Amino acid sequence: MTSWTLNKLAALVLGSACVLSLTSTSLAQPAPAAKAFEPRLGQSGKDVMWLPTKEAIVERLFQMGEVTRRDFIVDLGSGDGNIPIAAARQRGARALGIEYNPNMVEVSKRRAIEAGVQDKVEFLQADIFVAEYSKASVVTLYLLPELNLRLRPTLLKMKPGTRILSNSWDMQTWQPDETSAISQANANAYLWVIPARVDGNWAVKYRAAAGALPVSLALRQRFQMVEGDADFRSFKAVLQDTRLRGDTLRFDYRDSRGEMLHFVARVEGDRMTGTATSRQGRTRFEAKRTSTPTPFEEAVATPQEIADAVRVLGNQ
Ligand SMILES: C[S@@+](CC[C@H](N)C(=O)[O-])C[C@H]1O[C@@H](n2cnc3c(N)ncnc32)[C@H](O)[C@@H]1O
Repeated sequence: MTSWTLNKLAALVLGSACVLSLTSTSLAQPAPAAKAFEPRLGQSGKDVMWLPTKEAIVERLFQMGEVTRRDFIVDLGSGDGNIPIAAARQRGARALGIEYNPNMVEVSKRRAIEAGVQDKVEFLQADIFVAEYSKASVVTLYLLPELNLRLRPTLLKMKPGTRILSNSWDMQTWQPDETSAISQANANAYLWVIPARVDGNWAVKYRAAAGALPVSLALRQRFQMVEGDADFRSFKAVLQDTRLRGDTLRFDYRDSRGEMLHFVARVEGDRMTGTATSRQGRTRFEAKRTSTPTPFEEAVATPQEIADAVRVLGNQ
């Protein structure tokens, strides 16, 4: 079955109740031995049914997330545990799978033992919208467009630099940092890197190199997209080529001497430190936020984004 077909199946089965046919058993007969639970493709789940991520996509997600043994990877809605087990086996990472269906949790634990990675992998029976996973350095998702949107506020509170990987579904107006189209699975793989919050006004220190550094920076941010200007009192220079990846902010501007400066700064809360480089050499740079930090207001999906997410699924 192609991924397209499975996605379509997901759309169809989503929200349908699992109908169990109960057959009565005679008291006179001995109870049959309990059959071990066997997962079925497309079996219903709490918010989305179960389909496993294909191997080619798992591998590509790990490449895009640059998953290593230093990572703690959490799969939200972990099904039969294939992603946490692969993360431990292939990348040596520690991993946690959070899965609502207790039978799938048992299957996952058995598979982790079979794969010999039970020391590195854990499975938790819980609802992904309630469970705590803020310590993850990588989060993987194979859910539904609307569920990705519901997770956005929680994901955007995670530590800057945390990588979010999604099979098939995007995050609407939160653009991915990287996308791969995997033709053999007919699906996309997406990466987002949780951005630091840089929005606000920043006072600049170390103004020793005359002309090089402005008095202040005003930054405006939506997800990882940043724009702003550098205020030299006598003029403002609009920042060029701004790029925020995790806690690393880069931007350029032309200073009061007419020199183009290239900035690289690391953001830690209300402080950023780094360097400004021009043809004249390198200047140390430090800035402190003077405005009250604000949360990512755009994290909560708008009604339009939710409607678009529903439409995306309907079009599959
Ligand atoms: C499409 S499968 C993905 C399985 C696995 N992550 C993978 O990529 O191979 C989605 C899984 O999420 C589980 N699930 C659905 N709603 C959930 C919820 N609210 N909390 C935890 N798990 C959930 C389902 O039981 C199912 O196993």
